[in-house]
Amino acid sequence: MSDVELLERPQAVPASDVAIDCHVDKIFYGKFLAVRDSNVPIEKGKITGFIGPSGCGKSTVLRSLNRMNDLIKGFRLEGQVNFLGQDVYARGIDPVVVRRHIGMVFQQPNPFSMSIFDNVAFGLKLNRFKGDIEERVEHALVRAALWDEVKDKLKASGLSLSGGQQQRLCIARAVATQPTVLLMDEPCSALDPIATRRVEELMLELKNDYTIALVTHNMQQARRVADVTAFFSVDISRGGRTGYLVEIGQTDQIFEAPQEQLTKQYIRGDFS
Ligand SMILES: Nc1ncnc2c1ncn2[C@@H]1O[C@H](COP(=O)(O)OP(=O)(O)OP(=O)(O)O)[C@@H](O)[C@H]1O
Ligand SMILES: [Mg+2]
Repeated sequence: MSDVELLERPQAVPASDVAIDCHVDKIFYGKFLAVRDSNVPIEKGKITGFIGPSGCGKSTVLRSLNRMNDLIKGFRLEGQVNFLGQDVYARGIDPVVVRRHIGMVFQQPNPFSMSIFDNVAFGLKLNRFKGDIEERVEHALVRAALWDEVKDKLKASGLSLSGGQQQRLCIARAVATQPTVLLMDEPCSALDPIATRRVEELMLELKNDYTIALVTHNMQQARRVADVTAFFSVDISRGGRTGYLVEIGQTDQIFEAPQEQLTKQYIRGDFS
């Protein structure tokens, strides 16, 4: 993981257990303060789950990690996001390169309207990959536990697959460029329980090679797969609705011995 370079001449990368050190002071959309005071270290080789009520900023923080929010008008981050010691918002950093190292899987499976093969090869072509594309595509489909189901129909449209298969195709597309980190925003929310289990098993498999940050509304899912859990809430005391990190810790600790009253209430299902 340490040979990743966002800049042609990177600074010395300090050894650390953290793949992405995220220090959010404030995130704005235009004048709206969407998130404040959220320091979320994403540890290497682990799954970090983001939980919390709707609107508390889970997706906003997740998308800040690989500069996906750059695409949103009015987005502004005060703070720092360090990926293996490199500030991803520093001048001279190309967001496309950031996203190659920090890949993303979305809530709705979103295969492109092209063949299964081309879906997986998409990021490789975008990044002008010079190696053996066929080998890379096969490897990515194997890693995403989809190869056996599609190896005889690689020219079929990605859209012809089932929802669960489409989501695994999107995971294959994300892993094809061999990122260091995978960001997943509610990747199972459009899937049935069997497809969900399949993707969860896949996440547990993938964390041997990738660092994963996972947004989920499903608390059982967080318990099943996340090593570390970050609980966010919404602060309505100042007249706005600003999200912030309440507590982060080992998943067992967050669910069994939360330090904060708010976390306790949320885990109990008490939203009053
Ligand atoms: N593109 C945007 N433009 C303006 N405001 C936005 C945008 N995206 C999100 N917000 C606002 O920022 C806040 C945090 O939203 P975000 O989507 O990060 O929450 P979330 O925790 O992911 O919620 P959910 O669980 O419903 O997905 C919300 O108040 C939301 O309305
Ligand atoms: Mg969200």
